[in-house]
Amino acid sequence: MGKDRTWKRKRKKHRIKGTILLRTDGSKATAAKQIILAILLSGILLPLLIIFPVFRGNLTVAPENVRRLADMFVTGLCLLEVFVTVRILLSKHSPIKWLAVRKKLVLFTRLFIKPKISATLYHSVRWRYWLEDKKTVIDLYPNGLVEDTAGLGRKLSEYMGEELLKYEECNGKACYLFGDSPKRYDGMLLMGEGISKLTGRYEPKMSYAPIPIYDNVVWDFNSEALHILLIAPSGAGKTRLLTYLAGMAMKRGHKAYVVDAKNSVFGRVFRHSGVQVATNTEEIICLLTSLVDEMEERYSKYFAADRAEMDEDLKTLGLKEHFLFFDEILSVLGSAGKKERAEIERLLGQLALKGRAAGFPVVITAQKLSATDLPKSITEQCQTRFILGGLVSEETFHQATGAYKKDIAAAYKGGVGKGYAVTPKSGGLTYIETPLLPRNLRDCIILLKELRDRGTPYGEGR
Ligand SMILES: Nc1ncnc2c1ncn2[C@@H]1O[C@H](COP(=O)(O)OP(=O)(O)OP(=O)(O)O)[C@@H](O)[C@H]1O
Ligand SMILES: [Mg+2]
Repeated sequence: MGKDRTWKRKRKKHRIKGTILLRTDGSKATAAKQIILAILLSGILLPLLIIFPVFRGNLTVAPENVRRLADMFVTGLCLLEVFVTVRILLSKHSPIKWLAVRKKLVLFTRLFIKPKISATLYHSVRWRYWLEDKKTVIDLYPNGLVEDTAGLGRKLSEYMGEELLKYEECNGKACYLFGDSPKRYDGMLLMGEGISKLTGRYEPKMSYAPIPIYDNVVWDFNSEALHILLIAPSGAGKTRLLTYLAGMAMKRGHKAYVVDAKNSVFGRVFRHSGVQVATNTEEIICLLTSLVDEMEERYSKYFAADRAEMDEDLKTLGLKEHFLFFDEILSVLGSAGKKERAEIERLLGQLALKGRAAGFPVVITAQKLSATDLPKSITEQCQTRFILGGLVSEETFHQATGAYKKDIAAAYKGGVGKGYAVTPKSGGLTYIETPLLPRNLRDCIILLKELRDRGTPYGEGR
């Protein structure tokens, strides 16, 4: 999955940036503003106090002095208007968002960080911030003044009134991304993309383009982190995500293979499209064996050290990926005999180990992850991790992602079809919502069948 460090790289373009390092506690600036306001008000009120009695006839002043006082009043009024406009522009309610963010950070710093004064030195945190695509990116350099940068992110989110979309700690700074949650993708729309009518012939093209998942989280099956481990409790959306990923893999013109030990609607969806579906231990071992054989053959033909051209890969060779979608691995391993279990683990381990170079991505789902249930030879190769669901224990979360729920600066937001993605590339946890699929997967079957019948390589199981 080639996420997403890009949110930091891309943001370099077209950004208005700013840095804040407070040097005073703001009391002098406040005093200066009050003095300016007092001068301006007296510049307005004083002429008024004199001009009014003149107009009433209670006071006599030379006409040129009256004119001078009137000029003074108008000038004072104009300056007051400029002063108020500047104050509004620089306030936290500024219509210019960049300036509003600046002011909020200044006020927030004074409120929560409690900068310290020692002798003439003023200790404060440093902020860098910029706006990009309706999102606000803020880096905090704590300068040793903040212990819990995740907690501070939560407070900052409340103070700014914006949702905290991402939090990451790196190189001595904490990075926050604020904005509105991106919309969830429509899985059916993405799978059916390019098919404008249900008549006529659809001409599919093989593509290695990453598969979109949520916002800028994608599954880049050409990267080192191509194998996915998807952990979620029952009913949290494993099979739905697997269905989408398999549909998209086929949409890209590659081959898919499915393991559905529950013999559920998931297997039925793909069997209808002609995909090879294994449901019992015997079929699973048979499928895995043939995949490993094919992988070995391809590997020795194209990628073995003595044969491989330096710059050749699947794309340049025009080879199809062979995706394996393995649902509920724990129930498969749990119900298999000792010998079969060892064989399944060995074959999966082979696919996980060599699958990257030869183009055999594996997606495995399980309800939990523990070293005793799932061999490390498989899990360690699955560098892309998804975790979905609201009721995920702290232990499972940590085993799957290497992080703790408390590391998520925003409150934990897992739910049905909602959770987190983590990859070695992207570093931190990224919140995701899986692409929406219809409640009834019959529509999915219709779409995949329709495409197959119209001459796509859909369902070309093998
Ligand atoms: N992406 C999604 N789009 C729409 N509905 C979803 C999605 N993901 C989950 N759901 C809802 O949650 C329900 C359970 O999803 P799913 O069957 O994928 O979960 P699961 O983790 O595979 O559960 P189980 O452990 O029972 O197999 C679905 O019937 C559906 O109503
Ligand atoms: Mg399921």
